[in-house]
Amino acid sequence: MYKVAVLASGSGSNLQAIIDNINNGYLNCSIEAVISDRQGCYAIERAKNNNIKTHILDRKILGEALSDDILSLVKGKADLIVLAGFLSILKGEILKEFKHRIINIHPSLIPAFCGNGMHGIKVHKSAIEYGVKLSGCTVHFVDEGCDTGPIILQSIVEVSEDDTPESLQRKVLIEEHISLSRAIKYLESGNIKVKGRRVIRDVEKD
Ligand code: GRF
Repeated sequence: MYKVAVLASGSGSNLQAIIDNINNGYLNCSIEAVISDRQGCYAIERAKNNNIKTHILDRKILGEALSDDILSLVKGKADLIVLAGFLSILKGEILKEFKHRIINIHPSLIPAFCGNGMHGIKVHKSAIEYGVKLSGCTVHFVDEGCDTGPIILQSIVEVSEDDTPESLQRKVLIEEHISLSRAIKYLESGNIKVKGRRVIRDVEKD
């Protein structure tokens, strides 16, 4: 069975969506481990509640060694690494070892409102201040940059005149929960090819 490791730093609602989609049969994979880079994040509780193995690798203690320590935990044990609200930047060997096998979800339509320091409510505040009429989420492969890897899929939401950063965040999060599992489904079925920056899906095989 296709094996996934999920990395999370926050509340873990995206992790929960993956767990739910495994339980309801939409996804045909197993979560081998949930790894957090900080103490006290609710994603770890969600994993424990579902009998999933957990690891806390504290980024404040590990610093630059974090990526290599994650690699030691997942090498040979996971086919795919899913960043589901993971706030540390992966660097070094793990990016080579898991090339096109690490995905991230970002709560905007990349290349808008992304990159260093652009996470959480800040993304939605920036989208509203800019005046965009559409926002959404992006699932992309992780490369050496920040939010720069090839895009697997995007989903849009309308930004209405009375939206606040918080209401936009809620709307986008609903789409995130669908999109992240959909991307995992594409990858577990092996129907995805990366050509340069373009991710091509062989729909015939779906
Ligand atoms: C999501 O908005 C995700 O796009 C971003 O961090 C947030 C995590 O939410 N990378 P949760 O922890 O999955 O609830």
